[in-house]
Amino acid sequence: MQKVIIWRKELSVDHNDLDKQHKQIFSLVNWIAVGIDNNPSGVGAMLDKLIQYTEDHFEYEMSLFRSAGYPESIGHDAEHQEFLDEIQRMRAKLTNSDHLNLENFGRYLRLWIVKHCRSDKQAVAWINKETSPEATSSCP
Ligand SMILES: [Fe+2]
Ligand SMILES: [Fe+2]
Repeated sequence: MQKVIIWRKELSVDHNDLDKQHKQIFSLVNWIAVGIDNNPSGVGAMLDKLIQYTEDHFEYEMSLFRSAGYPESIGHDAEHQEFLDEIQRMRAKLTNSDHLNLENFGRYLRLWIVKHCRSDKQAVAWINKETSPEATSSCP
């Protein structure tokens, strides 16, 4: 089974900064997936980077969505928190040398990042629609 996942145009959320940040998350996810084979002890450090980067990304994203008045902001933020809880749980497992099925974890990360892009795409589409000149125009 393929371990790396490549960002593709259909995962664009139509927002340059968010796309750039998502591409960076793809790279981190791929580093972890490849690191699983080549350097299991390096996975922890990469996981720390992923946690830090996604925390910053989520913060950026939520300030964007909230200030635009996106009505699903609370649910969207809860999805983010769920992911952070899960990867922090996995990080703790690594730290404690508990058994962690890294292959399953790699799969989880790949599925998550795709789902995350799709969910963001919905949010940005809503924002673009609400803030388009037609939507904000006061002309009849
Ligand atoms: Fe998001
Ligand atoms: Fe995102």
